[in-house]
Amino acid sequence: MTALDAIANRRSIGRLKPPAPNDDDLRTILKAAASAPDHGELRPFRFTVLDGDAQDAFGVVLEHAYLARCAESGREPERAKAEKERTKLGRAPMVVIVSAVDQEDEKIPFVEQRDAAVAASQNALIAATALGYGSMWRTGAPVDDPRVKAALGLRDKDAIVGFLYFGTAPEGITLTPHDPVVDDLVLPFG
Ligand SMILES: Cc1cc2nc3c(=O)[nH]c(=O)nc-3n(C[C@H](O)[C@H](O)[C@H](O)COP(=O)(O)O)c2cc1C
Repeated sequence: MTALDAIANRRSIGRLKPPAPNDDDLRTILKAAASAPDHGELRPFRFTVLDGDAQDAFGVVLEHAYLARCAESGREPERAKAEKERTKLGRAPMVVIVSAVDQEDEKIPFVEQRDAAVAASQNALIAATALGYGSMWRTGAPVDDPRVKAALGLRDKDAIVGFLYFGTAPEGITLTPHDPVVDDLVLPFG
């Protein structure tokens, strides 16, 4: 598959089944991610790979964080929402959390380091597509939750940029490749 084919064919798939990327393919995906444009070559991106028991354990972190957010804001927690937080990582056999760790550089602001982690995330999705895997980028309230960050060894000032779900597309699913019309996206100048 060419790079352009992989870009066009990358589509979000909400539920993915096994197999997840094997060790070699995961390495290829992470190497693609870490090859993203990175101002100053600060390497601010970090990857937390969750599969199996680790997904279950992190689901408990997400549930507790949801309950804590409810308590903080005086909201009554909803059982169904708590359950969803606990189980949602199971929508794919592997989840890679991409975060940006502030390298506290004098010249490169954190927003650009975060941008590099975003670019890394897209590279990971494109690489997974090229290797034949399905994927989906998700975020939601947990990415801004200090408790979730702490569970990943991050500080408040660091950023979680995405929960990248990886696995295999269910049989029979039809994915339409991207073919966007770009004419209206081009701004005239001069
Ligand atoms: C930063 C970011 C966060 C996203 N978060 C979510 C999310 O929380 N839930 C979700 O369903 N999709 C999420 N998406 C996926 C987009 O909804 C998806 O890419 C979009 O629907 C276009 O579909 P495609 O990926 O097939 O092109 C996110 C995408 C990006 C770039």
